[in-house]
Amino acid sequence: MSATSRNVSMLILSVLILTLLVMIVLGFMLGFSHPLPWVLIVVLTVIPFIHDKIIAKRFVEWKDAYSVGHKDIDLDHKKLLGMINHLQTAVHYQTDEDSIENTLNELIEYTKYHFSREEKIMQDHNYPGLDEHKQEHAQMVDQVTKFIDEYRVDKTRTIDNVLQFLKSWLINHINGSDQKYRPYLKP
Ligand code: FEO
Repeated sequence: MSATSRNVSMLILSVLILTLLVMIVLGFMLGFSHPLPWVLIVVLTVIPFIHDKIIAKRFVEWKDAYSVGHKDIDLDHKKLLGMINHLQTAVHYQTDEDSIENTLNELIEYTKYHFSREEKIMQDHNYPGLDEHKQEHAQMVDQVTKFIDEYRVDKTRTIDNVLQFLKSWLINHINGSDQKYRPYLKP
């Protein structure tokens, strides 16, 4: 979702909540026994749940099929997906720029740490596709670094590109290239 769409949807949500609040106050003027304000209160209570459900659809979820059969690597992958979701939440709720940048930096640093750990494990298990895999990792770091540099220049536009790239790259990589070394990790 682009920054503009996000702003529009937040505006619509705010207007909807405000309208409901006004209608509830007006509804009570009809009398406390009138059902209208009570129905509107229920609607108002349900809105945050519906909103959270819609937001949750944008989160990336861990699936058992992503497992590479190595506890530490699976934990790293789960942590990375969690960090992407954290970034998604920060972007959606338009947390301050410093906080978004810190979250982004933490994610990149952990990704680099994970790549290095994973490469060591692949090396220890004599995985023949190690060089190719290392190249993919290096390309990913280059691409994300480029996005982050662009983000620092244009903070409204690029964060969506960064999020989309991280989500699709990580899922495709975990579910694709990382699965190739799985048979080599068996003791
Ligand atoms: Fe889990 Fe190749 O990154």
